[in-house]
Amino acid sequence: MLLLSLIPACSSVATAPSSSPPGSDLEGRVAELLGKMTLEEKVDQMHGSQLFAVADLWETPDNERLGLRGFRMVDGPRGVRAGKATTFPVAMARGATWDPELERRVGVAMGKETAAKGGSVLLAPTINTMRHPRWGRAQETYGEDTHHLGRMGTAFVLGAQEHVIASVKHLAANSIEETRLEVDVRMDERTLREVYLPHFERVVRDARPGSVMSAYNVLNGQYCSENRHLLTDILRRDWGFDGFVESDWVFGTRSTVPAVMAGLDIEMPSGVHLSFKLVEAVQGGSVPQSVVDESVRRIVRKKLEFVRDHPRPPPPDVVESAEHRALTREVAEKSFVLLRNQGGALPLSNLASLAVVGGLADAVNLGDKGSSNSVPSSAVTPLAGLRARAGPLPVTYAPGPTLTAEEERAIAAATAAVVVVGLTARDEGERIDRTSGGDRKTLLLSSEHEGLVHRVARLNPRTVVVMEGGSAIVVRPWVDEVSGLVMAWYPGQEGGTALARVLFGDTSPSGKLPITCPRDEGQLPSFDNVSKKVEYGFFHGYRFVEKQGAAPEFPFGFGLSYTTFTYTGLRLSAEEIPTTGSTTVSVDVTNAGKVAGDEVVQLFVSAQGSKVERAPRDLRGFARVHLEPGETRTVALPLLARDLAFWDVQSGAFVVEPLTYAIEVPIPQTRLVASLRVTKRGSPAGG
Ligand code: BGC
Repeated sequence: MLLLSLIPACSSVATAPSSSPPGSDLEGRVAELLGKMTLEEKVDQMHGSQLFAVADLWETPDNERLGLRGFRMVDGPRGVRAGKATTFPVAMARGATWDPELERRVGVAMGKETAAKGGSVLLAPTINTMRHPRWGRAQETYGEDTHHLGRMGTAFVLGAQEHVIASVKHLAANSIEETRLEVDVRMDERTLREVYLPHFERVVRDARPGSVMSAYNVLNGQYCSENRHLLTDILRRDWGFDGFVESDWVFGTRSTVPAVMAGLDIEMPSGVHLSFKLVEAVQGGSVPQSVVDESVRRIVRKKLEFVRDHPRPPPPDVVESAEHRALTREVAEKSFVLLRNQGGALPLSNLASLAVVGGLADAVNLGDKGSSNSVPSSAVTPLAGLRARAGPLPVTYAPGPTLTAEEERAIAAATAAVVVVGLTARDEGERIDRTSGGDRKTLLLSSEHEGLVHRVARLNPRTVVVMEGGSAIVVRPWVDEVSGLVMAWYPGQEGGTALARVLFGDTSPSGKLPITCPRDEGQLPSFDNVSKKVEYGFFHGYRFVEKQGAAPEFPFGFGLSYTTFTYTGLRLSAEEIPTTGSTTVSVDVTNAGKVAGDEVVQLFVSAQGSKVERAPRDLRGFARVHLEPGETRTVALPLLARDLAFWDVQSGAFVVEPLTYAIEVPIPQTRLVASLRVTKRGSPAGG
């Protein structure tokens, strides 16, 4: 039989996306299968098999009669959470690379490892907006800005779906950990459409994910998993999503009829609401048979689509292969953000000896212990990486936080001191138990870590602080005392090697902040992880800080290098375009220093004289470019008029205003600015 030959009973469900248009013979095969299913068999497609994972894989039931295997789902924004697997820098670190092509390669690697372990659905990427850095799961997402989130998430899905289905999560507005199961996140429609959803839309349109996971929380009065406006009106009708929506785990599905009628297709990880209760609801007439048929059609379509092109999983030895380990190191190197470098503290050249300080220097600190916990066979700590790179150079180590007299003498005598401080899974992450994870209580370092930094800085004038953590850390109490500062995030299993290479100058730091680092928490909107109802405004992150006229400690997009870049010749291929048009913004970037380096060119826009309130500026383009010393390259960034639109509440649609828009490319200390006129009936679309 056709289907049996497509899906051998024991093969994994799925491995690659199809490019076949709807209406091809795929639809015929889906309809044929549907026609053979009983109601019970259909409903069996719509829930997970059991509360607990089997060999780290969450299953949905097989249908052996029809040769239709269930899904095998596995977690993983930072690596596959099944046994040992390549553990990458967390998504926030990868966001700091501003490198979608690199992120696509990470997606390919994780997709391949998922398939090699028998998985067919990768529960990643997380693309929730980091509204506030105290959010415990901030490390799992890419940053605070919708354009940047959309580009990085799209890249990951395109890569992962070369092998498995990606489940993009968590739709929507999931950005508080402690109350995530019940908090009602309220916001007006414009804020939803412009701030919290466009990145999901971009991923859905540009990468066609097979799955979207609904969030636990309530959005504007309805649980996300029973929010018809979200799952049907917006996701399916407005964006054309043709995959299946699965719920977040256990408390992610709250009902039978409202959930199915809203557009939820699969309850995970078991069937409390969408199993026999759903059969009864259909039999009793409260859920039309056609609604179940549509859900099952969506699920079966993805099963057939993905199995067709890649029927065989990659071999097991792709897991933690040399290639994947090298990739984790490359990502880590490109993710570190150099935040301060006084008096040539870095790179670590002309050293007679080095002092390494701090318990985290000697710890494997890869991120939280929640669903994103990925465990490698081995990991290189900062201390191990620095020792290996230092070779014969004497390296002393003091764990702190208290220092013995002998340790103090060694720190004072060293040519430079590297202090590793920051956060661990105890301070932040998905809430696991009382002692692990949850939202951060403060943006400051612990008093022990702050004390250690003060002491080392007093002992050694060339003190470089390396911070680990998943989002912004307030450094104001001590930053002026140290000469170097690097944000290393949770840097993955090759993090120590990568760190040593960057600190010693084998490669120039090139990460840029995907978030705003405030001087103090008061510069940000308030973070309420206690109330059962919260209101999200139109502004957060750099949009909030800039509107307030506040100067953050380190702005969004900031990051230093060992070289210097100069920018010239900002120009537009068309300076006047119609509201349906586009232009290309170009700028020439030169590496004016003595070492090679990567630069991230960023493009912001601001509407002048809009009839609605706008942010002072919004990111609408970026590109990473590698430049050898003396080299110049032209970086061209496309800009569509529709990227300038606002959500018009009256018409219920995005509207591009005919206006003048300032086009801004920030460069060290200042910015290059040009003007773009968008007209109702202008010249045809430019370049
Ligand atoms: C998390 C999801 C995760 C799921 C399965 C939930 O608690 O919110 O992100 O994919 O568990 O582990």
